[in-house]
Order: sequence, then C-alpha cells, then structure tokens
Amino acid sequence: MAKKFSHETIEKNSILLLVLTLIVVAIGGLVEIVPTFLIKSTIEDVKGVRPYSPLELAGRNIYLREGCYTCHSQMIRSLRSEVERYGHYSLAAESKYDHPFQWGSKRTGPDLARVGGKYSDEWHRLHMEDPRAVVPESVMPGYPFLATTPLEYRNVKKGLTALSLAGVPYDEDHIDNARADLEAQATPDADTDGLMQRYPKAVARDFDGNPAMISELDALVAYLQMLGTLVDFNAYENADFRQ
Ligand code: HEC
Repeated sequence: MAKKFSHETIEKNSILLLVLTLIVVAIGGLVEIVPTFLIKSTIEDVKGVRPYSPLELAGRNIYLREGCYTCHSQMIRSLRSEVERYGHYSLAAESKYDHPFQWGSKRTGPDLARVGGKYSDEWHRLHMEDPRAVVPESVMPGYPFLATTPLEYRNVKKGLTALSLAGVPYDEDHIDNARADLEAQATPDADTDGLMQRYPKAVARDFDGNPAMISELDALVAYLQMLGTLVDFNAYENADFRQ
C-alpha cells in the first residue's frame, strides 16, 4: 500500500535518507543562490549619490586614521527607534563608494550616517577640540591637534586613482583637478564652478574658522557635514528616487 512509504521507510534506509536529505538541501541552496545570479545588481542606483570630493575624502581618511569607527557606526537600521532618532534608514547605495565601508556594529557614540547639517561648523570645532565643552557628559576623547595640523594632501591624486581602480567612478577630470578642488572647497570665495560640477551638492567654505590654513579639521568637518546629505529623501517619499 502507498501509505507504507512513510517516515519509517525513509528512516530505516540510510541511503534513501541520505539521498532525500541531499535533494532537500539542494533545493534550499538553489532558492538562496540562484536569485543572486539573476539580478543585475545588488545595489540600486540612487539619485544624488556621488563619490567623495577630494577634501571630504581627506576628512574620511582622518576619520579612519583616528579610529572614529571604533565608537561610531554609519548605518541606520530600518528599525523604528533608529529611524526616529537618526532619520531615514541607510540605503546600500549611500555607502557604495566607501572603501572600506563604515557600517559598524558597535556604538559607544551615536550613529553618524546622517550627522551632516545637524550641527554648525562652530559646534564641530568646539566638539572636536573638547567634547565636554558642548556635551558635558561626553566620554569622547578630544582631538585638539586637528585644528593646528596642516592637512597633508600631496598624495590626493593618488588617493583618487587608487579608488578608481576599486571601481569608484573618478575619471581623468576628477583626478587632474583633485588638488585644485580640494583647495577650492576649503577656501572662502574661491572659484568653485568646477568643483560643483564634478561634485554636486559639495559645500565649500572655511570649515575650521581659520582661513589662513587648510587644516585636518577643515577636511574632517567637511566630511562630517556631508554625511547623509546626498540623497533627497523628500523626493524619495513622494516620487521615484531611483536613477
Ligand atoms: C571613545 C569613543 C569615541 C571615539 C573614539 C570617538 N567618539 Fe565621537 N562620540 C562619542 C560619544 C560617546 C558621543 C556622544 C557624546 C558627544 O556628543 O560627545 C560622540 C559624539 C560624536 C558626534 C556628535 C554626534 C551627534 O549626533 O550628536 C560626532 C560628530 C562625533 N562624535 C565625531 C567623532 C569623530 C569624527 C571621531 C574621530 C576623530 C570620534 N567621534 C571619535 C564617542 C567617541
């Protein structure tokens, strides 16, 4: 009778059990693996996302050098508590030019994925010099030397070239103008037409309050102030944000 072919039959026949187990595992594997070969890209293009300007990139390098990522993540998860605190959850595209990415899993301090525009440059200057000057209970260390250290950017072109090898779309125009763009972004009243055309939405100003020198603080604040500002989420809520 057909009902004889039951669990008992399978369990008593080790070869049959093995074969059937392999078939079930194979189906599960295919369901997970095949789609990743069929979709064109795992990262959707999103309007507004662009590579970092040379000054922002220099700031990002200081962020990595100082180990800010040991206390700060840059990934807002799609949980209500996070979205209410930090803003729209992070999109994969927003970190697609990050090498290495800064998502992080540990937060001693807050997530910084959308810190851009949250505070004034002045606030960042005070906070970087001595966090307790603006947040009395802060446990973040101060980085007062950033304001007095001139930014070292001899190798800025090489930085862009290296990232272009990793797939970031910096072309010859970006690389040839890297130095000029870096200087234009940190210098008040500089000619920023080229910079704005290459890096839309770049904010150009004297970030550290000392127009006489391009400091490491200029670069770091330029980076912090652009974090999370590239995608216009109002357009995203109301219409199509994909490219
Ligand atoms: C030892 C852990 C630690 C390190 C390292 C650290 N921070 Fe923080 N950070 C904190 C804590 C805690 C806070 C929250 C209190 C405050 O605002 O100071 C904070 C707050 C901040 C804020 C304000 C965020 C907000 O939304 O209010 C910024 C910006 C920031 N940190 C940037 C940096 C940068 C840039 C570096 C590296 C140069 C850095 N932090 C390194 C712990 C850290």
